[in-house]
Amino acid sequence: ETIEWDAEETGKSGYDHYMLKEINEQPRALRQCLRARVDELGSSVDIDTVGDLSPSGLQFVACGTSYHAALYGARLFEQAGIPARAYLASEYATSPPPIGDDLVVGITQSGETADTLSALREAKRRGAETLAVTNTVGSTATRECDHALYIRSGPEIGVAATKTFAGQLAALNLFALATAEDSQTRRSVIPALRDLPGDIQSVLDNSTAAEIAEQYADAESFFFIGRRYQYPVALEGALKLKEISYEHAEGFAAGELKHGPLALVTDQTPVFALVVGDGEIARKTVGNIKEVEARDAPVVAVTDGQSDAELYADHVLEIPETHPRAAALLTNVQLQLVAYHVANNLGRPIDKPRNLAKSVTVE
Ligand code: G6P
Repeated sequence: ETIEWDAEETGKSGYDHYMLKEINEQPRALRQCLRARVDELGSSVDIDTVGDLSPSGLQFVACGTSYHAALYGARLFEQAGIPARAYLASEYATSPPPIGDDLVVGITQSGETADTLSALREAKRRGAETLAVTNTVGSTATRECDHALYIRSGPEIGVAATKTFAGQLAALNLFALATAEDSQTRRSVIPALRDLPGDIQSVLDNSTAAEIAEQYADAESFFFIGRRYQYPVALEGALKLKEISYEHAEGFAAGELKHGPLALVTDQTPVFALVVGDGEIARKTVGNIKEVEARDAPVVAVTDGQSDAELYADHVLEIPETHPRAAALLTNVQLQLVAYHVANNLGRPIDKPRNLAKSVTVE
């Protein structure tokens, strides 16, 4: 008897798709990202010489999923009182803003995306100091930038970025904690980062995303809404769904819904609302849930259960309670699973979606 051995099947270690394998690898990838970089007491962060930078302003440049990480990173620095903005690399390359003394940070999993490299080159040409946040040692971005911060996610094969997005968010937290934030913030965020591998594992073990995906796989359109750290996650949830299921999906800042997109909301448009904590942001997002519910949209609350979002939702995707910055990685795992299962229900070629490439090396 001969044993059939298929390199690709073996690489998937029993999972049907690389994407699902990589979603499940996130606890390990994050442990690797944090290893020896945060201490047990939660008081210090060590990211080598990148930690010595003290930017007075930052411009993030990136494409696709990495752009959503850039939005999150910019929000971290803004909240710390340092002006920061995320730019689409393709826009930045041809229409760069004034740079001043800003540090220009390229976020690129591959380190080879042509648009991001062009934006970084343009920044360099104008005299800016540059940093690459990347998964790929020896990539063009690391060779051309002044500094590199590695996300250490391990190789990602699926075209749809999953564990590398988590790695980017974690690395951006380390970067902000090391260069811009005080010891009090470090003491509240570091323990939440250290809890992430376990918290993600609990989302993976308990998620009911597969059932929700099955129920709504035929929906006309999928909407995702969130505020602050959950806004980039809403955009990412919609992008993931588009990329692999070919279904129409949009992510919105929850407050923006009433300024236009609400016209599209019907009983055929499930709305995934990301609601974390019980503060003002959560209350306002619950208000947005009520608006879509009044238009008969099915509502899926992705929530830690601290607000009363569940009262108005048709379904709940639960996440453990944690720091709002860490919660973004947890709601994101639920949305990765929703996208995966919708695409799987529709029989799409999940690891190799049509028209897309893992790394786009043309502008
Ligand atoms: C391609 C991929 C996306 C990715 C983007 C940026 O379009 O299909 O998944 O987010 O490139 O890739 P990067 O390697 O620069 O993070």
